[in-house]
Amino acid sequence: MNRRFITFEGIDGAGKTTHLRWVADYLRGRELPVIVSREPGGTPLGEALRTILLSEPMHPETEALLMFAARREHVANVIKPALDRGEWVLCDRFSDSTYAYQGGGRGVDEQKLRALEQWVHPELEPGLTLLVDVPVETAVRRLPVCKDRFEQQERDFFSRVREAYLKRARAFPDRFRIVDTSRELNEVRTELEVIISTYCL
Ligand code: TYD
Repeated sequence: MNRRFITFEGIDGAGKTTHLRWVADYLRGRELPVIVSREPGGTPLGEALRTILLSEPMHPETEALLMFAARREHVANVIKPALDRGEWVLCDRFSDSTYAYQGGGRGVDEQKLRALEQWVHPELEPGLTLLVDVPVETAVRRLPVCKDRFEQQERDFFSRVREAYLKRARAFPDRFRIVDTSRELNEVRTELEVIISTYCL
């Protein structure tokens, strides 16, 4: 577990990226060294894999393997070096996304995902995971008109992904905080500020 490693998770359309940016600004405003990254991506190879993952049809296990391949680069070249320098790392998605999307959404065997996780980052775990949560109906309404391969999925897919996230939050209650983003933005921010200031400052 690394206390300075904070991940943001949630189904597409939940508003995770907006809240991540706000948290990054909040921490920088308090003079903490912060880097922001994302998955799949965060490195040149990771971003190339992202382009493929978001557009090319593939077997669900190939999808899981490529997510972890991109993650291997990201951990080695971005996340670990930043943590070793004493910085806070805010990451838009990490391995919980693979459990939720490839495991819950696509039905890839969880044991296989655990094996990959053990292989790729045996010693790295976020200290805090903010699960940005909204009902699937709300999230689907917020999706952009021009959709990538994941955003094009059916409602049932997102329901399975959301259930898998909630199951992980129940399994790791010390690390997860569920933030209900179906509320007014100001209310969400007030809650985020309490969580983040208690955790980081
Ligand atoms: P995201 O950056 O949240 O999408 P956007 O920028 O369009 O808001 O994530 C890209 C997609 O990748 C998202 O639909 C979820 C998917 N994904 C997985 O399926 N498994 C994973 O392990 C990760 C990291 C992402």
